[in-house]
Amino acid sequence: MAPHKLCMIPGPIEVHEDVLQAMSTPATAHVDPKFVPIFGESIELVRKVVLTETAQPFIVSGSCTLGWDMMVNILEQGDEVLALNTGYFGDHFSECLEIYGAKITTLRAEVGSRPTNEALKEALKEKKYKMVTVTHVDTSTGVLSDIKSIAQTVKSISPETLVIVDGVCSVGSEEIRFDAWGLDVVISGSQKGLGVPPGLSVVVVSQQALDVFKNRTSPVVAYYSNWKKWLPIMQAYESRKPAYFATPAVQLIYALHTSLKLITSEPMEVRFEKHREVSAKFRQTIRDLGLKPLAQTEESSANGMTAVWLPEGIEVPQLVPALAGKGVQIAGGILTGLAGKYFRIGHMGISVMEPERHHIDKVVEVLSESLKELGYKA
Ligand SMILES: Cc1ncc(COP(=O)(O)O)c(C=O)c1O
Repeated sequence: MAPHKLCMIPGPIEVHEDVLQAMSTPATAHVDPKFVPIFGESIELVRKVVLTETAQPFIVSGSCTLGWDMMVNILEQGDEVLALNTGYFGDHFSECLEIYGAKITTLRAEVGSRPTNEALKEALKEKKYKMVTVTHVDTSTGVLSDIKSIAQTVKSISPETLVIVDGVCSVGSEEIRFDAWGLDVVISGSQKGLGVPPGLSVVVVSQQALDVFKNRTSPVVAYYSNWKKWLPIMQAYESRKPAYFATPAVQLIYALHTSLKLITSEPMEVRFEKHREVSAKFRQTIRDLGLKPLAQTEESSANGMTAVWLPEGIEVPQLVPALAGKGVQIAGGILTGLAGKYFRIGHMGISVMEPERHHIDKVVEVLSESLKELGYKA
């Protein structure tokens, strides 16, 4: 790989050489007999990553935001949506759903924590919701939501309510058991835990959610994101037949296929555990430096990234360039009003699964050095 600044933001993440190599395929038709099984198998491998047998994956060119837009397929004007909010991405997911006519009720927690199960139960008893939305890991705060218990609560009180998970910053780095936990939609994309450059939207949909889509009474007011267009395409490629609605990103799908093969080459449990182990160690290092993560408890801390409060007197425009000068890209904060007060570091994918690359060691080293140079005393 060409020498470059280590990309340790919470996505896009560092990409395996084999994945990069897979992208340098010569011009290939999307109906080429060599490409068709690559696309078909990628759809099957996505199922393995989120541990589902029966759900329908959609792999469509676009950023992860396209997954939010795809919710237009199961929303109708005036549908009630309960949004569990743990940060910036929760706000914007709701903003997107409102555009498609959703009436949003938000359960919000203070920065660094998450809405309680009691609050969720209360809300579900007050009103019938078409869907409950939750950001599995809000990349703005590094807060991990307990989607297993959320889905359990939702399905026990209101089995028809769909559980929609924004898994953009969790698929591939956090434990997700789509079938066992009763999830309905997991929205993701290529550039985070799946370890591929940006450009692919990956959305997994339960049969229950597909039935809601098929039985809707009003037409879907969308063209490119319409599942009526994409469902036959996914089904065709999975049965190893070419089909066309809009040209797939052939090279990105080659890359995704390579990365999914790597990811699924060992049981997902191994991957979940490794991310847990590395992130716990990383947070301990942060605390040893005298710093504090935004996520208030260990159990609500994401395993693929950490957001950290800046010490008094050190600003994002000092720290981020200081690390960049030492060859490591990290990110500043993005929460409205607090963006300048914290920074974010990604620890996902090959940086975690292949410790011999020393990505995390390098981040820790340059972070400590930079803080010291900026006058910080632990
Ligand atoms: C949790 C979460 N949801 C949605 C998005 C939107 O993804 P994209 O920027 O690929 O459209 C992001 C982007 O970082 C994210 O972190």
